Amino acid sequence: MNDIRNRFEHAQSREARNAAVSKDRLQFHLMPPVGWLNDPNGLFQKDGEFNIYYQYAPESPKGNTPKGWGHYTTRNWIEYQEQEVPLFPDSLLDEGGAYSGSALVHDHRIYFFYTGNRKLPGNYDYINEGRQHWTIQTCSDDGIHFENKHPVMKNVDYPSNLSCHVRDPKVWKDQERFLMVLGARTKDSKGQVEVFESKDLENWVHLSTITPKEDFGYMWECPDLFTVDGHQVLITCPQGIEQKGIDYESLYQNGWFNVQKPLDEDQQVDHFHELDHGFDFYAPQSFEDESGRRILIGWMGLPDVEYTNREEAEGWKHALTLPRKLSYQNGILYQYPIEEIFALRKAEEKMEMQPGISAQLPDRVCEIELYPTNENWTVRLRKDAVLSYQDGILALKMEESGHGRDVRHVRVDKIRKVSIFSDTSSLEIFINDGEAAMTTRIYDDVDDRTIESSAAMEAVVYPYRSFVIKPLEID
Ligand code: FRU
Repeated sequence: MNDIRNRFEHAQSREARNAAVSKDRLQFHLMPPVGWLNDPNGLFQKDGEFNIYYQYAPESPKGNTPKGWGHYTTRNWIEYQEQEVPLFPDSLLDEGGAYSGSALVHDHRIYFFYTGNRKLPGNYDYINEGRQHWTIQTCSDDGIHFENKHPVMKNVDYPSNLSCHVRDPKVWKDQERFLMVLGARTKDSKGQVEVFESKDLENWVHLSTITPKEDFGYMWECPDLFTVDGHQVLITCPQGIEQKGIDYESLYQNGWFNVQKPLDEDQQVDHFHELDHGFDFYAPQSFEDESGRRILIGWMGLPDVEYTNREEAEGWKHALTLPRKLSYQNGILYQYPIEEIFALRKAEEKMEMQPGISAQLPDRVCEIELYPTNENWTVRLRKDAVLSYQDGILALKMEESGHGRDVRHVRVDKIRKVSIFSDTSSLEIFINDGEAAMTTRIYDDVDDRTIESSAAMEAVVYPYRSFVIKPLEID
C-alpha cells in the first residue's frame, strides 16, 4: 500500500504543480496545490498555530481518485505553510478514502477521528451492504506525523437500524467526557445524527439519536454540534431534499437546527435554517480557537452538481471559504469573516454609486461594502453577476460568468449592508454583517472591473493583497 504514497507524491511533483496554474487561481482562499479538494477536516489551534486539513485527491481534479487529507498551517490566516500529506488511504481501514473527520487537542496531543471508507469487492448495493464506514482514530504530537491508525468503531458498533453510510465524526470535550456525532442514513433511507460518548477517546458507547420531526432527506453528512453564545446548534448537510419555492435551491443542503435538550436523550429537531444560500457551499466544519472564537470553514463547492468550474481543465478544482466567526443573536446564526482577513486591505476607496453610471473597482480582488437605502435595488458586477433586492428577497443571478450557475435567493427583511469578498474566481457575500450568506464561484473576464447600481448608494472598496502560501519543498 506504499504505492498510494508514491502516487500522491508523483501527482504533486513540481511539473504537475506548474501545470495546475491558471488565471482562476484564487488570491485569498485556500486551494489544493494540484487536483481536487472537498471538505475542510480536522480544524484546531494549538500553541498559537491553526491547522487546516481538507479532503484531497491530488491525482485528478475530477474527485474520482483516492482521497487522503491535505494540510495547511497558519498563525495569522494570511501567511500559510503547505504541509506534507498527513493521511493517505493506505490501509485496509481506509483504502476507499480517508474520509472526513475532526481533531481534538487533549493532554498536549492531537487526536484525529475520521471515516475509513472501504468498498468490499463483490456485487453489492454499497448502501446497505458491501461498504465499511469505520471510525478511525490516529494521534499526533505536531499535526504532521500521525501514528497508530486504528478503528474505534466498526459498522457493527453502530445502531442496527443504520445502513452502511455512517460517517464524518466530529469529536469534542464535554466536561469529564468526550462526545462524538456521526452523520447517518438508516436502512430505510432517512437522514439522522448519532451521538456517542467516551471517557477515554478509545471506547465509545451510543448515547442518543437526533432525528428530524418530519423526514428530512435520506442522508445527513458532516454533522457538527456545539454551543455558541449559550445556544446549542447542530449543523449538518442533508441530502435528498426537494426544492420548495426559494428554499433548498442547492442539490444538497447545508444548514442548522437548534438542539433544545441535553444530548443524553433521543430528541427531534425542527426548523432547518440554511447557512449559505449560494451555489458553492457545503460540508462546513467549525472549531473553537484558543481565544474562544467559534470559527467555521466551508468547502466552496458541492458534489454532483451540473454547473462547472473552469479551473478543472487546468488540473485543480475547488477551494475553501474564508474562515467565518459564528455568533448567535435573536435566533440567527451570524457568520462573518474573522478580523485577521482585514489585514489584506491595501487601501480604502469611497464610492458614491449613481443610477445608470458605471464605476470601476480599483481591483477585482477586493472587499466591497454596499450601503443601500432604497427599498429595491440592483447591483451588477464582475461582467454579469447581478444582485437584486426586491420585496424582501435578495437574488444572485449569473449568466456566462456562472458556468451554468443561474439564480439563487434568500429572504432578508431589510438590507442595510452588503459585504462582498471578491476573489479571482469567487464571491462570498454577507448581508447585514452575516445575517445571511451567499457563496459562489465565478468566471468572468480577467479585467472586468465595472460595477453599476440601479439606485444611489454608498460603497466602500478595499483592494486586497494576496495570501502568502509557502509550498512544500520538493526535491
Ligand atoms: C461530504 C462528503 C463526506 C465524506 C467526504 C468524502 O462532501 O461526502 O460525507 O466523508 O465528503 O470525501
